[in-house]
Amino acid sequence: MSHKSTGRFLIFLLASALAAGIPTAAAAARHPSVSHDYGDALTKCIMFFEGQRSGKLPPTQRLTWRRDSALKDGSDIGMDLVGGYYDAGDNVKFHLPMAWTTTMIGWSVLEFGNKMGYPDLRHSLDALRWGTDYFLKATSVPDRIVAQVADPVLDHDCWERPEDMDTPRNSYLLNASHPGSEVAGEIAAALAVGALAFRKISPSYTKLLLNRAIQVFEFGDKHRGSYAQSVGAGACPFYCSSNGYMDELAWGAAWLFKATGDNKYAYYVKSNLGTSLTAFNWDSKFAGVYVLLASLDYAYAANADNLVCAIMPESPFKTYTFTPGGLLYAEGASSNMQNPTALCFLLAAYTRVLRAQNRVVQCGDVNIAPSRLDRFVEGQVDYILGSNPLGMSYMVGYGSKYPQRIHHRGSVLPDIRKHPERIGCSEGYGFFRNVTSNPNVLIGAVVGGPDVNDRFQDSRLVVSQSEPTTYINAPFVGVLAFVKGRANV
Ligand SMILES: *[C@@H]1O[C@H](CO)[C@@H](O)[C@H](O)[C@H]1NC(C)=O
Ligand SMILES: *[C@@H]1O[C@H](CO)[C@@H](O)[C@H](O)[C@H]1NC(C)=O
Repeated sequence: MSHKSTGRFLIFLLASALAAGIPTAAAAARHPSVSHDYGDALTKCIMFFEGQRSGKLPPTQRLTWRRDSALKDGSDIGMDLVGGYYDAGDNVKFHLPMAWTTTMIGWSVLEFGNKMGYPDLRHSLDALRWGTDYFLKATSVPDRIVAQVADPVLDHDCWERPEDMDTPRNSYLLNASHPGSEVAGEIAAALAVGALAFRKISPSYTKLLLNRAIQVFEFGDKHRGSYAQSVGAGACPFYCSSNGYMDELAWGAAWLFKATGDNKYAYYVKSNLGTSLTAFNWDSKFAGVYVLLASLDYAYAANADNLVCAIMPESPFKTYTFTPGGLLYAEGASSNMQNPTALCFLLAAYTRVLRAQNRVVQCGDVNIAPSRLDRFVEGQVDYILGSNPLGMSYMVGYGSKYPQRIHHRGSVLPDIRKHPERIGCSEGYGFFRNVTSNPNVLIGAVVGGPDVNDRFQDSRLVVSQSEPTTYINAPFVGVLAFVKGRANV
């Protein structure tokens, strides 16, 4: 924690306490352990997505070392696929994790948008729309869905800026004979969440999103199959769907139920529900379904309770590990940080359900109240922001000590304004091998993070620790809005 951020935070707290008419001493006493500027972290967490933008950048772009890129995507199949997000430190557009990212930015807005404050809410909606606009393009031809753009093997073989890459930008198609229900289900979810988030802002856009979500879901349900088989080597070993597609279809249906109120979707979820699954990530969605529908039916709430018992360190049924410094850790995970951010999102959302039901979770003879979940989530956030054995913030640009050599092409290679000459495929590795700090600060990027013993190597070579991904940051947007909202009570 830097003195600068504490100072800023206190001024902020003072201002909001005055605005709310609460004595500041009382506000501070209620949160004696507050030491992080959650508002600053939230602003940065959202800004990160601007660094991942593909396509034509708008004049409002704040990370100005990025420029227009991949302006011909889709031309190989006669479609406009300009836009969307680069997945992580590479320049591939993988639609399965991109759609999950979009869904989670949208859920962050729906669940915690009222805690964000105006500019951050507006930027979150921009980040959401950057995804939904793109998925409208990827699904613009009926009975056809584009599953991803760019050959990942050839992309990963080069170290190039998105602005001057020359690797193949081929499009991978799904259709009735080559289905991909994971991608369809998750895109349907993203579009349905978008329809909910934009309902009051733009009824016409909402209608467009909702109609498309329904169409894409029906296509994915009617033509069932795994996208990994249809896409082949472009999907695996990058984003193989290891647990099948029924979770994505149920997740898409759950969001369609939320967006339409049509009971046929609720029935669909109920008859296709996997129970007591505790992973929540780009591949596994059932845990999200439990929390999303927990207030609807006790069957979902019971599963959500089990999720809480699988996570909390004091629970006799816990299945997750914790580092000695206290970070939630999934054994065998690459980019572990995606686990604490996504699971904390579910816990934060679930506190609202528990409070509305005036209930605690019982894990054997351990009772877990919503206030305990609040503190747990805050503890994970504080770890990520620098309250950890290394005193390292795992969010780039937040605090005084954060990763300097993240595994990210755009961040490592020089700013195009300073180095306008093209940097070729292997030429880029000269910059990769340079041990100096990355020249472009990818503000807000949360990296894969420390190992199971709280150790972190700030090295581009240690990809699982030093690479940021869109799906680490997306749920963290909601988590940060949640903790910011609590700190400002
Ligand atoms: C369906 O997709 C496959 C694989 O992308 C492609 O080879 C095939 O031509 C497509 N079929 C139709 C009818 O478009
Ligand atoms: C590493 O990068 C720094 C800063 O851009 C530069 O001054 C230096 O010459 C580079 N070193 C090598 C070996 O390329």
